[in-house]
Amino acid sequence: MLIAQITDLHVTREGELLSGRVDTRKALTLCMKKLSSLSPRPDVLLISGDLTETATEEEYAFINDKLSTLGIPTYVVPGNHDDRATMRKAFKGMALGQDEDPFCYAVDKTEWPVLFIGLDSTIPKNSEGALCPERLEWLKDVLQKATPSRPALIFMHHPPFTTGIAPMDACGILQGLPAFRQLIEDHSNSIAGVLCGHVHRMINSSIYGVPVLLAPSSAHQITFDIDPDASLTFTLEPSKIALHSWTEDNALVSHLIYVDDFPGPYAF
Ligand SMILES: [Fe+2]
Repeated sequence: MLIAQITDLHVTREGELLSGRVDTRKALTLCMKKLSSLSPRPDVLLISGDLTETATEEEYAFINDKLSTLGIPTYVVPGNHDDRATMRKAFKGMALGQDEDPFCYAVDKTEWPVLFIGLDSTIPKNSEGALCPERLEWLKDVLQKATPSRPALIFMHHPPFTTGIAPMDACGILQGLPAFRQLIEDHSNSIAGVLCGHVHRMINSSIYGVPVLLAPSSAHQITFDIDPDASLTFTLEPSKIALHSWTEDNALVSHLIYVDDFPGPYAF
């Protein structure tokens, strides 16, 4: 099974550039073009948060319009720039619950070899993340459906580990992390991996042997700077897409591809 993951699209309002210099609407258009060109095509697309910059209905409508040209089953979770209620309207029926409830759900299709779990790690109107007891209780229940031969693949916005990128760690998950890690340990033989975003860089880790993969943005990246006093800056590194393959050996094999061609430092 081929699983595409994009994250941190930060689609802006029409006519606006992000920070005055990044055309995130064009980045999404190019991203869809790249995904459409892949052969074989991904079976599913996961979007791990920060779909929009300001969470307007128009920004989500733009995204849905682009997704409709792709025609791949798509599942989303909110990031700190999103709004649960507006997402519920834009992605009707994806997550149960009332407007402001956490946007959590499982996708359990018997024809697919993994159980997808969309886990909302956000706190409304906050950059920081949280995994409250209610969400963890829900996760514990849904993980009962996962088995070693048909494991769960969790996707969420905030990474459940400290990355070393100080300004992003400062807005990481502030609540529930020890209990989340305990759940991962308890079900480690039934979880294929945890996919996340938020930091706009590729960073990989593991929790009790379970791979935790942080995908870079399909638009703009955050500067690599592991100085503890670093401040938050963007860098115009290429936009990227993560492609995860769940193989017949029950292994998660992950690739990163560029959204657009990049000439690199080579002379031809
Ligand atoms: Fe983001």
